[in-house]
Amino acid sequence: MPDIESLLKEKRVFEPPKEFAKRAKWSKREFTALRKLGEKSPERFWAQMAKRHVSWFKPWRKVLEWKAPYAKWFVGAQTNVSYNCLDRHLENGRRNKAALIWEGEPGDSRVLTYGQLHREVCKFANVLKGLGVAKGDRVALYMPLVPEAVIAMLACTRIGAPHSVVFGGFSAESLRDRINDAGAKVVITADGGHRRGSAFALKPAVDEAVAGCPGVESVVVVQRTRQDTAMKPGRDHWWHALMATVSADCPPAKLDAEHPLFILYTSGTTGQPKGILHTTGGYLTHVAATTQAIFDLGDDDVYWCTADVGWITGHSYVVYGPLANGATVLLYEGVPTHPGPDRWWSLIEKYGVTVLYTAPTAIRTFIRLGDEHPNRHDLSSLRLLGSVGEPINPEAWMWYHRVIGGKRCPIVDTWWQTETGGIMITPLPGAVPTKPGSATLPFPGIDAAVLDADGKEVKPRAGGFLAVRKPWPGMLRGIWGDAKRYEQTYWSKWKKPTYFPGDGAHRDDKGYFWILGRIDDVMNISGHRIGTMEVESAIVSHEQVAEAAVVGRPDEITGTAIVAFVTPRSGTAAGAALVEELRGHVAKHIGAIAKPADIRFTDALPKTRSGKIMRRLLRDIAAGKETVGDTTTLEDYSVLAKLRESEE
Ligand code: WT7
Repeated sequence: MPDIESLLKEKRVFEPPKEFAKRAKWSKREFTALRKLGEKSPERFWAQMAKRHVSWFKPWRKVLEWKAPYAKWFVGAQTNVSYNCLDRHLENGRRNKAALIWEGEPGDSRVLTYGQLHREVCKFANVLKGLGVAKGDRVALYMPLVPEAVIAMLACTRIGAPHSVVFGGFSAESLRDRINDAGAKVVITADGGHRRGSAFALKPAVDEAVAGCPGVESVVVVQRTRQDTAMKPGRDHWWHALMATVSADCPPAKLDAEHPLFILYTSGTTGQPKGILHTTGGYLTHVAATTQAIFDLGDDDVYWCTADVGWITGHSYVVYGPLANGATVLLYEGVPTHPGPDRWWSLIEKYGVTVLYTAPTAIRTFIRLGDEHPNRHDLSSLRLLGSVGEPINPEAWMWYHRVIGGKRCPIVDTWWQTETGGIMITPLPGAVPTKPGSATLPFPGIDAAVLDADGKEVKPRAGGFLAVRKPWPGMLRGIWGDAKRYEQTYWSKWKKPTYFPGDGAHRDDKGYFWILGRIDDVMNISGHRIGTMEVESAIVSHEQVAEAAVVGRPDEITGTAIVAFVTPRSGTAAGAALVEELRGHVAKHIGAIAKPADIRFTDALPKTRSGKIMRRLLRDIAAGKETVGDTTTLEDYSVLAKLRESEE
C-alpha cells in the first residue's frame, strides 16, 4: 500500500500528448466547460450527458429526486439498455461492424457484428420469456468469459429481468447464497471453460448450489468445453437446443429509468456479501458518457478491457459503456500467461488493440516476467492505456508507460467502485496532465472530496477519508433487501448525507487525488475485494479451528495477500497438513481467490482487555514489521500483545 510520504515525493507530470489531444473526443476546452457546468449544476451536466449519450423512449419529468440517501434519476423517463447497446447502432450504419471479437484460451475465435449480436440477444430474450422469466424476475449468471455471457446479460436487460452475475471463480456455496439472496429463478451457466491449458467444469458447482436453491426453476447450459455434463431432466436445458426453437423478434421492453438493471455482490466488513443494486437510466448515462470521455472510443478502435464480466469493471466497461458507444470490444477467455508469458501482447498485435484497460496487479506480474515478452511484439496499435482496481504504484505506472505504451500513450488511472457504477476520479486523456500514482481529478459532475472525521475538507497533502458529497446517476440505489445496511455503510459517517466509499486519500497542491486504499476491514486482493470477516467465518467453520483472525499484508504482485492467524482446537495437530486443509476449506466456502497466502497457528490471538482482536498488531506482524523470532507460531505474540495492550 503506498504511503503518503513516498507519494508526496512523486513529482513527474505528463502532459496529454499533442497528437492525442488534437483528436480527443473530449477536448481540453470541452472538459473545462463541462467541469464548470458540473460544479455549478451537476443536474444540468448529467441531463446534458443523458441527452447526448442515451436514446430515450420517453423524456424525464425531473432530472433528480434526492431524498437522502435515496436518489431517483431521470424521473418518469423510459429507455432500454439493450436498445441503446444494439438496436440504435443498426440504425446508424454499424450493423456489420464487429461488436465482439472473442478469443478462447485454446486459440479458437469468434466475431459477432452488431447485427449478429442483436439477433442472438433477441433470441435469448425469447428463450428467457419461454422459461417464464418476466419483467422484474432475477436471473443468475455463472459463466466463463464467452460471448454467451454478454448475450445473456443484454437479453436480461431487454426484457427488464435484473441479472446477478456471479464470478466463475466463486464456490458452489457462494453461488448458492447469492442465488438465494437475489431470489433468482433461472441460472445461466456453461459446462465449463478453459483456463491455464485445461478445461475446468462449472456445471457441477451449479448442481451443488441449486440443490440448496428452492426458487430455481431452470438452468441453461452453454456448451463450451464439451466435457461430460450431467443434465437434470425438466430443469436443465442446453443453450443451443433452446436457441434453435425461438424467433429472433423481440422488441425491447420500455422500462422506467429507475427499473432495476442488475445486482452485483461485493464484500463488505461483515461475513455477508452485499447485493449492490443498480438501475437503468442513470447507470447507462454514467457509463456511456465516461466511456467516451475517458477511453476516447471511436469507430476505428479495438478496445480491450481485461476484466471478467463477473466484476463491476466487466459490467460497466466491457459490456455496457463500450457497446452503448458502438465500439468494437475484444474478449479473451483465459489466463494472461497461456500458452506463454506473451499471450496478451500477441493478442494486442493480432487484433490491433488500440485501447487497453487493465489492473495494476497484471502490470506488476508482467514486470516480473520480463520486458522481452512485450518487446517481441508490435504494440504500436495502442494509443491509450487504463488502470483500475487498486492504487497503481508509480514504478508500475512508469513501466506501463514505457514498455507497453511506448511513451506515446496517455494513461488513465480510474478510481471507482462496484457501488459507484462508473468511473468517478480520472484523467481525461486529451485534457488532464497525469502524475504516476494519482487518479487526478473528479469526472465532471462528481463532487469528490477528502474529509476529516468531522466532515471538514482536509488541507492539501494531509490524509483523510475519501467522500462524495452529491448524488450521481450511476450510484447504487441500495443493498438488495437491506436498506438499513445501505444507510449505515455508506451514508452515516458524517452528519450531512455524504457518501463514504471506505477509502483513504489525500490531495496535492493542484487538487489531484492520491488514493491510499481501503481503511476498513476489506482487503483488495489483485483488485478484488475480499472481506476479512468472510474469510474468518469460513475458517472458523472448520471443525478443527477454535478461533481465527484474518488480515492483509503487502504483496508485490497482488497488492495485498491474505494472512490468517488461527487457533486450532486443543488436541489438533497444527502443521502443514492443516494449512492445506484450511486453504481448501476457504476455497470451498468462498472461492479460490480468497485462499490465504499464509496461515499461522497460535495458541491465543492478541486481544484488548475488552476482547477486540488487535488487528493493527496482526497487520504489523503479517507485514514482517515486528521482529519476534520464529514466525511460524504466534505463541510469543500473545505476550507481545499484552505489552501492546498497555499502550492502547
Ligand atoms: C475498491 C473498489 C472499480 C472496479 C474494480 C474494483 C480500489 C479501484 C482504484 C484506483 C486506487 C482503486 C478502491 C475501491 N480501487 N480503483 N484507480 N486507485 N484504488 O471494484 O471491487 O468495487 O473495489 O478498489 O479501494 O474502494 P471493487
